[in-house]
Amino acid sequence: MKFRNFSIIAHVDHGKSTLADRILESLGAMGERDKREQTLDTLELERERGITIKSTPVRLNYTRPDSSGHGGEEYVFNLIDTPGHVDFGYEVSRSLAACEGVLLLVDASQGVEAQTIVNAYLAIDSNLTIIPVVNKIDLPAADPEGAAQELEEIVGIPAEDAIFASGKTGAGVAEILEAIVERIPAPSGDPEAPLKALIFDSIYDAYQGVLLFVRVLEGRVGLKDKINLFSNGKNFEVDRLGTFSPGLIVGKTLEAGEVGWIAAGIRDIQDAQVGDTITRTDFPTLEPFPGFKPAQPVVFSGLFPTDTEDYRKLREALERLKLNDAAFSFEPETSEALGFGFRCGFLGLLHAEIVQERLEREFDLDLIATAPAVIYRITMNDGEVFQTQNPAQFPTRDRMEKVEEPYIRMSVMLPEEHVGAVMQLLQERRGSMVTMNYIGKRVELIYQVPFAEILYDFHDRLKSISRGYASMDYEIIDYREGDLRKVDIYVNNEIVDALAVVVHEDKAYSLGRKIVDKMSEVIPRQMWAVPVQAAIGGKIIARATVKAYRKDVLAKCYGGDISRKKKLLNKQKKGKARMKQIGTVEVPQEAFLAVLSTE
Ligand code: GTP
Repeated sequence: MKFRNFSIIAHVDHGKSTLADRILESLGAMGERDKREQTLDTLELERERGITIKSTPVRLNYTRPDSSGHGGEEYVFNLIDTPGHVDFGYEVSRSLAACEGVLLLVDASQGVEAQTIVNAYLAIDSNLTIIPVVNKIDLPAADPEGAAQELEEIVGIPAEDAIFASGKTGAGVAEILEAIVERIPAPSGDPEAPLKALIFDSIYDAYQGVLLFVRVLEGRVGLKDKINLFSNGKNFEVDRLGTFSPGLIVGKTLEAGEVGWIAAGIRDIQDAQVGDTITRTDFPTLEPFPGFKPAQPVVFSGLFPTDTEDYRKLREALERLKLNDAAFSFEPETSEALGFGFRCGFLGLLHAEIVQERLEREFDLDLIATAPAVIYRITMNDGEVFQTQNPAQFPTRDRMEKVEEPYIRMSVMLPEEHVGAVMQLLQERRGSMVTMNYIGKRVELIYQVPFAEILYDFHDRLKSISRGYASMDYEIIDYREGDLRKVDIYVNNEIVDALAVVVHEDKAYSLGRKIVDKMSEVIPRQMWAVPVQAAIGGKIIARATVKAYRKDVLAKCYGGDISRKKKLLNKQKKGKARMKQIGTVEVPQEAFLAVLSTE
């Protein structure tokens, strides 16, 4: 059989799903949505709430038309899905490693965006063939030639290679299918060699345990084979395996070049890490596929039930979510103010939002989330070195020799006219410029920025000062020393550990001010005035007061900020304000995220 393994990559909203549906439809397969339903049915996967089925790869049969000069030749296409967000960059690179080529989509009206470039480089780094596709050419504002030209200038892909297409009208789809055959190489790899298979995704099924999604690079694997995972040395026996049509098709073997799934009685998704290599114990390969990295959470937040009775329910919900998400971590955390909860680790802010939203919606929990934080590396005066992601545990300055924090390399694409404002924003965020490239009327800025600086309202600010035109992407590069301080927050003269934040010394005062002001707005009025204070090492740096009731003011007053976070929270609130009793004061969720509010 002749195979072509490929993926579609694009900036968010450039039309990936729509074009994929169109390709499926033209090859007689069902649309994306039906496919998911079907997958559920064939698999009898857990249907209970709380387990979301990730989209599986699709296997498609393509017969070349007579017009190609090779009429009747048959091919099998494996279309592998990639997660479309910066939080999941490593997963994208592993999915791409399972392919020989990609369709790189660019919206004809938007042109090249930050994620277009980053994804293109991921594909180039994996030595993949890139088929440039200028999509949405039906739009009135489309400038297909312009978009193709940008691809050539920015990524170095010849403009004349671009296919003009529309997922909406179906234009260009036939040409894309032929290009997949013509331009993307057939998979190489010797089926007689020792087994080497790459795990590019995994899902949890209640009956069969973890299903590994694999690309066989060399050798073959069959039923009852004993397989070995490189990263942890564990052995399992293959119970079932097969390929993907829409849904899972049960088969007997998988060979070099093929994409398929394996069930081997694996109960813990932690054993099925994306990027790991599988081999056979009776015929092992010596070298794993390079570049394996265990999933590493980089953003941390405390999650506490508003009702302490819900602690066990929260633990069960976290365990359920974890079954299907090896990248997410949690461990118990005790806060004096909030009681028992968990410190949870995520791949990024979006991942954190998804998990929190699922906990509330699918498991019906009311939660208080503390402000997101990064991992700090601390060297104490006595030479002890430790890491913490919990601002409450951050030592005072006099006890530390140094603190290091994660840095990111950020790329921003934006129209020329907003460059000044965006550079100023990056400057405020302690960024340092690496390069600036002019591409026609647009600019690519590359900066190095402390990761913590983009956790608080960066994306919203970037969008608002560029009128929505700037796009960004980032990756963590290293740790660097910084003058960081813990700002403690006191409510009614009591320190609230869960409200502590870590911030650069230069910003401690303004941030402390912002937090107490915001908190004094969102904490409902009490019978008496309640002081809210910010302090560093016991020294008060800012103070505000929640005024006492006046007779006629009974309405709770909430601040009117427009951050994405808050919109999400409002959506989740289901008409019920989430509050936590701290001493005699009821503190709402907004107060815990005061640091995130836009000024
Ligand atoms: P993410 O999954 O969020 O990254 O988005 P995506 O890249 O999969 O984009 P999707 O296919 O969801 O399309 C984004 C929006 O563009 C939707 O509103 C689509 O209806 C629209 N769209 C997609 N393709 C076309 C097209 O060819 N022409 C036009 N006019 N609109 C399109």
